[in-house]
Amino acid sequence: MIIPVQWSDEGVKMLDQRLLPTEEKWLTLKTYAEVADGIRDMVVRGAPAIGVSAAYGIALGVKQFVGTNIDDLEDELDYICEVTGKTRPTAVNLFWAIDRMKRTFAKAKADGKSIGEIKQIMITDAKAIHEEDIESQRLIAQFGGELIENDSTVLTHCNAGALATGGVWGTALGVIRGAVNQGKNVSVIADETRPYLQGARLTAWELLQDDIPVTLITDNMSGHMMKKGRVQAVVVGSDRIAANGDVANKIGTYMVAVLAKRHGIPFYVAAPLSTVDMNCPTGDEIPIEERDIREITHVKDIQLAPEGIEVNNYAFDVTPNELVDAIITEKGVARKPYSESLRKMFEE
Ligand code: MRU
Repeated sequence: MIIPVQWSDEGVKMLDQRLLPTEEKWLTLKTYAEVADGIRDMVVRGAPAIGVSAAYGIALGVKQFVGTNIDDLEDELDYICEVTGKTRPTAVNLFWAIDRMKRTFAKAKADGKSIGEIKQIMITDAKAIHEEDIESQRLIAQFGGELIENDSTVLTHCNAGALATGGVWGTALGVIRGAVNQGKNVSVIADETRPYLQGARLTAWELLQDDIPVTLITDNMSGHMMKKGRVQAVVVGSDRIAANGDVANKIGTYMVAVLAKRHGIPFYVAAPLSTVDMNCPTGDEIPIEERDIREITHVKDIQLAPEGIEVNNYAFDVTPNELVDAIITEKGVARKPYSESLRKMFEE
């Protein structure tokens, strides 16, 4: 059972995903700033895992406040959240967790809680965010598993597994684990997912540990695999889903969605409601992260591209809602029109 980030009295423990699959190294991060660096530098990555890590970082920062004035603590909290919020722009779970922790603080302050009590309340709520995330994945696995046919091969892009969440199931990999748990025979095709290789390094690693058959391909092979009839469904995760159902996910997801449509293959997105941004009308409003070009020009210290070459390194893209056949959440399976089905899930 993989749980990539954990709270401890010494600090926030984080599995260094940059070193996987060849090395399993745990870091103990002692301050909120170290946790923020861990998010920015992708020690931990994946939208729900980023949210859980941010909540733990904020709780750690509040725990380490040494003052006696609650207004000073509130100022410190605002600064901690500002630093945490500047780490990565696309995964909305980051901002969802920051808002949740700020609301928890505001309520505790309004209830007249002491600084000592507030410190404990923040830790408790960060842990609750973690537990709720794992529970949401279990439900996603259940609802999503039912959509997967027996004896089918599922293609997935990036890593939307236990490593990318609070742990245990994952979202897209949760759907696959759910289908297997329902007794279905399922194989997986994993896109390597250049440039950071989350598919080759992380998805392959997770599925091998679970003895779920997995075949690794380069990203540019997915069309050929679909044309050969090797793919019966596509399941991916998401970093932010707009109110109309447009889906932001790892760069290359849009390409896979277009190919799936071309070949009549169902394209499913699995994500908790904490990844649905009802304040974001369409995918056009989703901020797309651009990362260091060295992620493309080099693999570790090996230079691939000539010095001085112009490079774009968009980390995410947006798949328009018309290419998405279902959005699988902890509240069930949402279908088009998503502006209605997603809104209903928040009202339930
Ligand atoms: O850059 P990353 O590795 O954080 O990107 C992760 C993804 O795109 C995942 O598919 C998404 O966050 C969903 S994780 C359950």
